[in-house]
Order: sequence, then C-alpha cells, then structure tokens
Amino acid sequence: MQFPQGFLFGTATSSYQIEGGWKEDGKGESIWDHFSHISGNIQDGSVGDVACDHYHRMKEDVALIKELGTNAYRFSISWPRIFPQGEGQVNQKGLDFYQYLLDELVKNDIQPVVTLYHWDLPQALESKGGWANQETVAAYLKYVKILFQTLGDRVALWITHNEPWVIAFMGHYLGEHAPGKKDFNLALRVSKNLLLSHGLAVQSFREVGPVGDIGISLNLSPVHPVSESEEDIKAKKRYDGFLNRWFLNPLFAEEFPSDMVEWYQKKGLQVPSLSKEEARIISLPFDFLGINYYTRTVVEAGEDEPVLEVNFFQPQKAEYTDMGWEIYPQGMTEIVKWVEEEYRPEKIYITENGVALPDVREGNSILDPGRISFIRSHLLDLSQAIDTGSPVSGYFLWSLLDNFEWTLGFSKRFGIIWVDFSTLERIPKESYFWYQKVAKTGKVE
Ligand code: FCB
Repeated sequence: MQFPQGFLFGTATSSYQIEGGWKEDGKGESIWDHFSHISGNIQDGSVGDVACDHYHRMKEDVALIKELGTNAYRFSISWPRIFPQGEGQVNQKGLDFYQYLLDELVKNDIQPVVTLYHWDLPQALESKGGWANQETVAAYLKYVKILFQTLGDRVALWITHNEPWVIAFMGHYLGEHAPGKKDFNLALRVSKNLLLSHGLAVQSFREVGPVGDIGISLNLSPVHPVSESEEDIKAKKRYDGFLNRWFLNPLFAEEFPSDMVEWYQKKGLQVPSLSKEEARIISLPFDFLGINYYTRTVVEAGEDEPVLEVNFFQPQKAEYTDMGWEIYPQGMTEIVKWVEEEYRPEKIYITENGVALPDVREGNSILDPGRISFIRSHLLDLSQAIDTGSPVSGYFLWSLLDNFEWTLGFSKRFGIIWVDFSTLERIPKESYFWYQKVAKTGKVE
C-alpha cells in the first residue's frame, strides 16, 4: 500500500511527558508538576521532574528523528516555560529552548508541528480557578500570540488544544488527571472555555499571519451499542454525544448538541450557553481537524457511569493493549468517514495513534512485534479511507519515546524508542526500524 506524495509521517510527544527540567531556566510550576508531587496521585509513585530528560537531550532526540526518516514531528510547548506565572513577562530562556528545537528540526528537514496546550497549565493560573476562569482564556490568548509572533516563520502546523475532552472531563469530572477535580458542572464550564480559547487562538493566528496551518486535536472514538435494543442505542447516542459531538458540534456547527443539552438539563446540571458571538468565534474556520484514535468504545444502558447512564463493555474475543484498550484497527476508517460525512473538515491529520504493550529486551535489541502489527493494521486501514477520498494528510505515531504516561507514570511504554529511566539511555525498538521503512518509502507492506 502506497501513501500519497507529500503525506506527513511523524511521531508525537508532549512537553510534560518527556522534557523533565521541571524547574530549569526559570520555568514555573505546572498543574502536572503540582499534581504528580501529591502522593497517591500517580499509580507507580513516579513524577515527571526528569522524565526522558529531553530538555537536556534535545539534539540527541532530533538526531534519532532524523535517522528515523519521518518528515514531521509533533511536540508541545510548556506554557510555564514561556510564562512561569501564566502571564506577565516572557521567560526568554524558556522560549529559547523551543527556538533551538525548531532550528534543529528545520535544519534536518523535519516539519515542526506544535501543540500549544498539552495539559501543563501554569499552576499560578490554576490557583485562580484554572480553565473555569475567563482570565485563563485571556492569558492563553497572550501566550499563543507570542508564539505565533516569535516562532511563526517555521512551524508547519499549530494545534490549539490536545484533547479538550480529556482536559475537561478527566481533569474536572473524573478527577483522574490534573487538577484532579470531580464536578461535572465545572467540567462543562471548562469545556466551553477551552472551545472559546481555541476560537480566539484561530482568530489571533489569522491576525498575526504566520506561515502554516492551524487546527485542533480531538480524541475521537466510534461508540458502539452492545445490542440493538432501544435502550442500548440511546446509551450509544449519549456516550457519543458526551465524547465526540460535544466538541465537534460547536466547532463545526456553532452549538452544543441539543440532545446532550437536554439530557444534562434533565439531570439537573448547569449547561453553559453560547452567545451568538461566542458561537461564531468557536466555529471560525480552521485549517485541519486532528484526530487522536486509539480504540472504540462499547456501551450499554446502565448505571456504571451515572451521569451518562451507561455501562462499559469489553468484547470477549478481542485483543487488548497494556492500557486495557481493545485493538480495533477498523475504527480508524470508521471514525474518519463519520467525521467527514457529519462535519466535512477540509483536512484531517491523525495526530495520535499508537500502543502500549510489554516489550522484550534481548541484549541490545528491543523486540515489539505487537506494536509493529498494531501500527501496520491501523495504517492499512487508514490507507483505505484515503483511497476512497478522505482528506487525510498525515499520521503521527504516539510516541517517539517511552515516556511519563500521566497517572500511570512510567509503567506504560508507548515509544518506538526504549528509554531506560534509570540511565536515560535510548534504544530504538524493532518498531522504530519498521516505521523507518514506511517513512522512507511511503509504503506499508
Ligand atoms: C493521549 C494523550 C497522550 C498520551 C496518549 C497515550 O490521550 O494525548 O498524551 O498519553 O493518550
């Protein structure tokens, strides 16, 4: 299977998960620094203070990307490196780090893809209410504008937010991610502010006028009912509304999905409304939709998830990853086709896809056949969508390096490069060499 000319093959990472250097060169504290330092929050007791030490090994890591042969690299910028308190004076040394990273990438013909926000909010802003507070939206706008102005000549793609659903609901309803809150109403308010900040960033991007394109990355998942019963189909619709349509609808159609607004109201929740002007800003045309695809979701009517009234279901015959996620490659085409039909984005990038599985170390080789077959099957499925006309222009594998997997710490390895977290040595896995062939030939065999 041959991918089209100019197709972007990349890998993806995020600042908190790989950088370390948590207090280096004037960097301020982020909500993930804060959250991971509270005992009990991270399952294996680890913190991201050092992580992969990418802050000090950036050149070595870019050399590994160069050797890999992928033509793009997605990384995120740590807001508290640029503004240690979230706003105020720029911390020049923090900005310099990303200037050097861009220099290295461009010099090596690797297109930089920048995520503006991958979850490491400055703690100073969290102390004032975080994403539920309008002031955070205003501070975000100042932060992104500086980046458009200073880095705008070299970035190919800008991503305003990574997975707003995770930020809003894992961080403010389920409490599993920083800042660890458990309040559905708060999560709804946060979701609105994230959308608003996205729209304002798009507006600012057009005003500043840097080269490159701008978009947003959503974690999307096909939702399937366990049975065709009316109850299960309704449960499917609710979960799909909660996870997928809650963000897609305002971005493309100016409003929250009305069935979800009704459901939340019926549940006595406070649903944020969108003024005409807010709806217009949120739905300003952006250049591409980023899809992060990992698995499908199977639900039935039930009470496990009390707000949505659904139970989660794990099909028996399926294979599962180390995260407990079902391996479901055909969901790739399904989600792409569904988004295309429902929302008609001009361009799509798969901004994340990948797998955590146990790797086997044999001497200096890291054997990960399961990862190779996972990526292969997902790429083959994606190629079918492209063959039948879907506007997918790139694929970013999560992840370049084994890294800090949020509340699961270092216990899950997603990288195509093994990281020894005691010595920080990097060893490319078999999947690295497999992906190298794909990147170099544009072919998946
Ligand atoms: C996504 C996140 C990314 C990583 C992968 C496994 O939800 O964007 O940071 O943790 O999952």
